[in-house]
Amino acid sequence: MVSILEKLEQEPYGLLPTHSEAKEMSIEDVTQKVREKLLEHYPDLIVEARMSRSKRREVITLISNVIISSGLYVPRLTRQDLAERIAQEICGLGPLDELLDDETVTEIMVNGPEEVFVEKAGVLAGTSIKFQNDRHLLDIINRIVQSAGRRVDVSMPYVDARLPDGSRVNAIIPPLALNGPVLTIRRFPRRFTDLSQLVECGTLEPDVACFLKKCVEAKLDIVVSGGSGSGKTTTLNVLASAVSPSERIIVIEDSAEIRIPEHHVVYLEARPKNMEGKGEVSIRDLLRNALRMRPDRLIIGECRGKETFDLITAMNTGHEGCLSTVHANSAGDCLERMVGMALMAEEGVPVDILRSWIAIGVDVIVHLEKTSTGHRVVSGVSLVGTEPGEGLTDFQVYRREQGLSLEFPSWFMEKIGERRCNVLLEEAAL
Ligand SMILES: Nc1ncnc2c1ncn2[C@@H]1O[C@H](COP(=O)(O)OP(=O)(O)OP(=O)(O)O)[C@@H](O)[C@H]1O
Ligand SMILES: [Mg+2]
Repeated sequence: MVSILEKLEQEPYGLLPTHSEAKEMSIEDVTQKVREKLLEHYPDLIVEARMSRSKRREVITLISNVIISSGLYVPRLTRQDLAERIAQEICGLGPLDELLDDETVTEIMVNGPEEVFVEKAGVLAGTSIKFQNDRHLLDIINRIVQSAGRRVDVSMPYVDARLPDGSRVNAIIPPLALNGPVLTIRRFPRRFTDLSQLVECGTLEPDVACFLKKCVEAKLDIVVSGGSGSGKTTTLNVLASAVSPSERIIVIEDSAEIRIPEHHVVYLEARPKNMEGKGEVSIRDLLRNALRMRPDRLIIGECRGKETFDLITAMNTGHEGCLSTVHANSAGDCLERMVGMALMAEEGVPVDILRSWIAIGVDVIVHLEKTSTGHRVVSGVSLVGTEPGEGLTDFQVYRREQGLSLEFPSWFMEKIGERRCNVLLEEAAL
């Protein structure tokens, strides 16, 4: 595909009308004229340039060319300055630009116009940044979510969106939010692509990383648990990268975050209801469809509700090596939450049967915690199954304070079978 810059080089002003005489105008009028032209010819670029610096440079070049070709002129401003000011006006995100420019900011939290917090290196900190008022903030929120084709207003007072650069945005406005419009942006400045990177940053100890890699190779069903922002999706992504490239992976998410390069992957993303309350396609719908797509591996970004039932069913019906995450405070809590979420599906399966399905389906829980210093650590790894006389059980083989033990309980060895047990016990390197 030819980029817009290349197009301009080939045909500098051909796309735009030409004027022979320069016209002196106010900056507001020039901005308006340029805005109309750009929105008419390059609406997508403008939207992308709101979050992407390189796209913004393309817009500045484009504006310069519109200024020349339309013969526009503002006293006391060079063409470059004028183009930059117009680009800021059209694509800028006001006070947020400064934060978006800072690569070390991983999360931006705006709690109404007067209060902006950021997370840097895992630590939360206040800033002196302010918006003029609710309206100013709301305009900027709408500029951001427009990049994902969404809008927030009274009829749709909250929105969850993924931007073209991979950032995840949530906005919720009054009357639901009492502080004024609230915006949360999670950015992904660093992509972890394999287990060794999680070892390097101290999230995983080397022997635990090797053990988890073997769990993936042995096609065990793994659930990553942890609190909000503890690194569940990141860990899931990295575990998925350990899947053999010969396997066909189907990834299902609410908002696409997972990327598994150099693998055979089909990515599916759920769709929320439209303005009329129609057109919803849930994770559950996608999961049921995925079963007919010959998956070798199913990856559900997060189990939050009824889809848990279908995941457990899939795990019990020969779909080995499924991976997912659950928001929970411990491995035991994770299992209880899975029972509760599966019950939400109202399939009429009694709770003790569901518990036994989970005991058969889920093999390993990897639990993550976010420490007070902002680090993400794998604090425990548990094996899951049925302990005779106890029912659904989890057994910790790793606790950060005590290290990893490869002595598995007999009920677990019986459950996964000798072949897979041997894979787990093999010597392996990352
Ligand atoms: N091991 C890690 N070390 C350092 N930073 C990490 C690590 N894992 C994740 N992060 C960062 O922490 C933030 C949250 O990560 P992630 O989205 O994986 O968490 P999560 O538990 O899935 O969150 P949520 O509960 O919102 O789904 C991201 O900014 C990510 O880059
Ligand atoms: Mg997540």
